[in-house]
Amino acid sequence: MRISIDPSLCQGHGRCYDLAPDLFGADDEGYATLLVPDGRVPADLEDGARLAAANCPESAVLVLRD
Ligand code: F3S
Repeated sequence: MRISIDPSLCQGHGRCYDLAPDLFGADDEGYATLLVPDGRVPADLEDGARLAAANCPESAVLVLRD
């Protein structure tokens, strides 16, 4: 599984990094950043990736299957 953030959609709601802090961080303005190289999600964090995607109000978190 891979994740990405669409920066044109992210409004800094912060649910992604609250729900999955091992996958998402925040820049100085509160917009989401990825903490995993190339967006590759370790198997034990896949539930967190799905949770973040489901809870982003802007649908800015994309989950892609390998
Ligand atoms: Fe941005 Fe959505 Fe996270 S708006 S900060 S990607 S919850």
